[in-house]
Amino acid sequence: MSQSLLTHINKQKVPNHIAIIMDGNGRWAKEKGKDRIFGHYEGVISVRSAVEACVEAGVNYLTLYAFSTENWNRPKAEVDALMELLVNTLNTEMVSLHKNGVRLHVIGDFKSLPAICQQQLSEAIALTKNNTSLNVVLALSYSAKWEIKEATKAIAQDVLDGKLNVEDISEDLISTYLNTAHLPDPELMIRTSGECRISNFLLYQLAYAELYFTNLHWPDFRKEHLFEAIINYQNRERRFGKISEQIINNEVSN
Ligand code: IPE
Ligand code: IPE
Ligand code: MG
Repeated sequence: MSQSLLTHINKQKVPNHIAIIMDGNGRWAKEKGKDRIFGHYEGVISVRSAVEACVEAGVNYLTLYAFSTENWNRPKAEVDALMELLVNTLNTEMVSLHKNGVRLHVIGDFKSLPAICQQQLSEAIALTKNNTSLNVVLALSYSAKWEIKEATKAIAQDVLDGKLNVEDISEDLISTYLNTAHLPDPELMIRTSGECRISNFLLYQLAYAELYFTNLHWPDFRKEHLFEAIINYQNRERRFGKISEQIINNEVSN
């Protein structure tokens, strides 16, 4: 067997936070003559691989886009199957995730999820709250426009209540009103299935993320593909508006 790409990763430059749009489950299943739901079930194996790969590579945060606000508009049978899959997966995976030191977080419109999902998620979040090996953030019933709207309302309310001055509204303050207030911004965003769009995912937080698109459908995504994405990321020059010479002279933090 060839050597793992893990050995080619520069441990000093591992992204702290990777976000993934797990796309292509339905097409993957259809190509095999199966029902779309089969693709979602197979996608769970890829989630496990991605979690393991992040632990091995030393990534601290992994955000997975599992269900968008817009996904509620899918046929009811598919939505119901996805919610059931969420509950089943939490049931079967949480013990081993907990053993492996994974801490679970959720972003999105939590209250719009079925009660059983809310309950299972709350238990999993409580169970894993002291874990430190990898933070796994599930984006569920999430959309960035919804999140920014909610943040804007909360900021406006705090100004009305005299808790906040308009002059104090800064970029950092806005971050603290988002669902991701306690999370660092992702450095790398991966989307599978060949679609080159953001689909309402983390619009504020991805402002300077490196974007990586692969034609693989999510159920085919494995550890080595994540390592490949990290290596691709490490070969990019992140300039943050500066010029190359400034970066080479290590002035990026100035
Ligand atoms: C991603 O796969 C999973 C969810 C959005 C829940 P899709 O279900 O979008 O699969 P495609 O893109 O239709 O193939
Ligand atoms: C984005 O995928 C949402 C998730 C992966 C959960 P979609 O398949 O819903 O996105 P569009 O419709 O192709 O933009
Ligand atoms: Mg899709």
